[in-house]
Amino acid sequence: MAKLRVGVLASGRGSNLQSLIDQSLSGRIDAEIVLVAGNKADAFALERARQAGIATCVIDHRKFASREAFDTAMVAALREAGVELVVLAGFMRLLSSVFIDAFPQRIMNIHPSLLPAFPGLDVQRKALEYGARFSGCTVHFVDGGLDTGPIIIQSVVPILENDNEESLSARILAQEHLIYPRAVQLFAEGRLRVEGRRVRVLPPADPAEAVLFNPAVD
Ligand code: GRF
Repeated sequence: MAKLRVGVLASGRGSNLQSLIDQSLSGRIDAEIVLVAGNKADAFALERARQAGIATCVIDHRKFASREAFDTAMVAALREAGVELVVLAGFMRLLSSVFIDAFPQRIMNIHPSLLPAFPGLDVQRKALEYGARFSGCTVHFVDGGLDTGPIIIQSVVPILENDNEESLSARILAQEHLIYPRAVQLFAEGRLRVEGRRVRVLPPADPAEAVLFNPAVD
């Protein structure tokens, strides 16, 4: 089976990118990361991609007159690489409709809260300050809003008495590294159906219907 061609957009340290690279290289997800693109040349995520032999591209948003012009360049790079699914992994730019319409229901994001609680930035701190008892992380499809798209998968993390922003963020991040590859794999298996706000997860293909060839038939 052909692997899903994934393009990752990242602006920062890239730990979620790394978990996707690791799972892809070990064959635990049926996805190949064909391009890592970013808007910041010094992002460590790009270095991780280079170390894994993955193509990278940097498109500096400051060189574009508008968000739409920047998004058009990004879309062109992703299309050129034959990307089928766009994965946002700490990409610190809002996407315009130019981008979203180019990959309808083919853009995922991960967010370190239990959406719809605490969209936006600094959300681990906000959950602590609010006094929430649980937080977590969410993988969702991207729509035109800020962290508002249909939810694919979530993981719940309890907030402990002595938590600070750093300790809570670390426990949430460990869950992010589990659920993002899982969401990508569900997509790769063609098991996600967006129905309005809800994402239906289809059951796995019946193993009894699977046919194996050895040697492989191509
Ligand atoms: C993660 O907390 C993710 O949920 C948020 O940005 C952070 C990216 O971290 N969208 P990393 O660059 O993947 O380490």
